[in-house]
Amino acid sequence: MGKTYKIAVMGGDGTGPEVVAEGVKVLKTAAKKFGFGLELTDIDYGGERYLRTGEVLPANAVEVLSGFDAIFLGAIGHPDVKPGILEKGILLHLRFALDQYVNLRPVILYPGVDTPLKGKGPEQIDFVVVRENTEGLYAGAGGVLKKGTPDEVAIQESINTRKGVERCIRFAFEYARKRNKRKKLTLCGKTNVLTYAFDLWERTFYEVAKEYPDITPDYAHVDATTMWMVKNPEWFDVIVTDNLFGDIITDLGAMIQGGMGIAAGGNINPQGVSMFEPIGGSAPKYTGKNVINPLAAIGAGQMMMDHLGETQAAVAIEAAIKSVVATKLKSLSAGKMGYSTTEVGDLVAGSI
Ligand code: IPM
Ligand code: MN
Repeated sequence: MGKTYKIAVMGGDGTGPEVVAEGVKVLKTAAKKFGFGLELTDIDYGGERYLRTGEVLPANAVEVLSGFDAIFLGAIGHPDVKPGILEKGILLHLRFALDQYVNLRPVILYPGVDTPLKGKGPEQIDFVVVRENTEGLYAGAGGVLKKGTPDEVAIQESINTRKGVERCIRFAFEYARKRNKRKKLTLCGKTNVLTYAFDLWERTFYEVAKEYPDITPDYAHVDATTMWMVKNPEWFDVIVTDNLFGDIITDLGAMIQGGMGIAAGGNINPQGVSMFEPIGGSAPKYTGKNVINPLAAIGAGQMMMDHLGETQAAVAIEAAIKSVVATKLKSLSAGKMGYSTTEVGDLVAGSI
């Protein structure tokens, strides 16, 4: 028997628990096959708990989660809770408090999956976005004056620190090297307008690039990036960008890789506790119907195994996902897969 990993399982809201259950099913199968252990602990942070207790997170939440090897998250967002409370109070709070400074989001089109991009296939859509995950416009800096009056002033500032920018860029260069595909790293920014923030990003990027002569550094403005992602996605290998730009371009990325049903991500702290999640929301209207696609959550589980060093398990899970989408599923959309949520989980687990 190999190592045993302590995993916090946070199903969260809406369809989160259903998709995470299928992820857990697949992880258990992989653990048995590849000889490692899983010590799974359910954690109930989310909208239901908030409505019941009135607290978004218990005071010791970060301490509790710090005791795990990784966190497996479903989704945060509840229809009966005002938008923003849970997202900021749970998801963003944990990303920040656990210093998960990279949000890693692969945009990979698997064979047999439909993309809305005409003439593009798996050869052309295969890149990874490294999104800065603790700073930028998400940092919460700013304020409001004279609220509700005609003189109201709202200020929201983008925080970019040399340390924060550099560690994210270094992660991206290392990742491009390890990925070993096109060996190209594109900085996605807005140097023509955001002349303070992206000047820091650009200088740091080209300084660090000198330490990676095997990786070609490249630059694209964020608006142009969205254009190239649609027109020439094959130009990208690894993209590094700030928090908000990364948020926006990865929703576009999810669409070109087949939709939210398949898009997974990892909130990474290379020295700490990382958190893996499907990047779509809680999709409350599908809750309890057994129709949501669990593949994004299963893919998040795969990323978690890769992160923990169980490479064989990660490779096997990815191969199983690929084979199920190529040979079984009619569509990746909720209710149109030709199988239920639990059946898709069974199919993936069965092909490991
Ligand atoms: C994401 C989500 C979150 C974000 C929201 C729910 C706060 O859109 O993970 O991309 O903006 O980061
Ligand atoms: Mn988003």
